[in-house]
Amino acid sequence: MKISIQNLQLKYGSFTAIENLNLDIEDGEALVLLGQSGCGKTSTMRCIAGLEEPTSGRIIIDDVVVFDSEKGINLPPNKRNVGMVFQSYAVWPHMTVAQNVAYSLKQKKLSKSEIDERVMEALTLVGLEPYADRGASLLSGGQMQRVALARSLVMRPSVLMLDEPLSNLDARLRDRLRVELREIQLQLGLTCVYVTHDQHEAFALADRIALLQGGRIVQMGAPQHMYEAPASASIAHFLGVSNIMDCTPEGTAAGSTTARIANSELTVQSAQLASDAGTSPKVCIRAEDLQITAMPTEHPNSWPGTVRVAGFQGNDIRYAIQLESGPELDALGGLRRGEQHKVGDRVWVTVNPREVQILPAEVLA
Ligand SMILES: Nc1ncnc2c1ncn2[C@@H]1O[C@H](COP(=O)(O)OP(=O)(O)OP(=O)(O)O)[C@@H](O)[C@H]1O
Ligand SMILES: [Mg+2]
Repeated sequence: MKISIQNLQLKYGSFTAIENLNLDIEDGEALVLLGQSGCGKTSTMRCIAGLEEPTSGRIIIDDVVVFDSEKGINLPPNKRNVGMVFQSYAVWPHMTVAQNVAYSLKQKKLSKSEIDERVMEALTLVGLEPYADRGASLLSGGQMQRVALARSLVMRPSVLMLDEPLSNLDARLRDRLRVELREIQLQLGLTCVYVTHDQHEAFALADRIALLQGGRIVQMGAPQHMYEAPASASIAHFLGVSNIMDCTPEGTAAGSTTARIANSELTVQSAQLASDAGTSPKVCIRAEDLQITAMPTEHPNSWPGTVRVAGFQGNDIRYAIQLESGPELDALGGLRRGEQHKVGDRVWVTVNPREVQILPAEVLA
């Protein structure tokens, strides 16, 4: 089912939670709403589901106008065929797994045989069929999360909306359920709106990510595009780019820019023109794009420094390197990628100009 959101605005009193939001979600697409706490993710989802009445705008689900402020249309949630899974999964502890999943179908007064069939189908999808008769209070957190998911899937919604459904789980289980969720979504061809503030979750689940800041979509695109080409330094920061520094562009030649890092003697070359970066440009460099060597390299951006911190992380070592000419940089050195460096070592840090981005501080609204 396609979803089209047009000029959506939501105010709580004088506070604007959603500002002129436009979004088209394709049939079978997994769209992730990503952004930090308070940016309006849950509010947007509640508007689509009909749990919140927008101040203005239009929402169309599969060619049916479910909300239109001008025409006074506002279909109730149960007329929108939208399934929701919430962060707090609210499984009924006094019922079995199967009873939990069957509950809404019983409310709809379906026949027992149809209910049984659909419950087993939903439990199979989430891998819980062996637990059908177990009391729901005797489940692990991850299993309860699956019950909540099965309870939505059993209604065969045309759109599934999930609001941080994995946030109560430990990291390992979250990784696994994330993959399973994606499998189910693809298998059923479900149109899915997924809310998270975790960029890894967003990257793993999304066909497309809509990044929200302050109730507005500031960037939208496929996960890899968002990762490679964040539109602003603040988006880069949110997506995990750790070296972000004020800079002054000093010149452009042969398609590359030289910029001086603020309050230092350090100049950086970027294979990018700084002309789009506005009045307060920032240099953004990923920790994993820095190469650390014991000797200088031939490349334009190669700077001497001293290892101040070396933190073992399993596959990688995370370094803090104090450059002699200025800032401290956050760098990731692979154990497999080469030599290790100790605290106090003098090293050279190199970055390819192609990996140096000069971005505006914020996306201009
Ligand atoms: N009922 C309400 N009345 C007034 N303000 C509200 C109400 N619900 C939400 N807000 C405000 O609207 C903004 C957006 O809230 P929303 O719940 O959509 O954020 P979110 O992106 O889901 O955040 P989180 O990641 O913390 O869940 C927040 O600033 C919040 O304080
Ligand atoms: Mg929320």
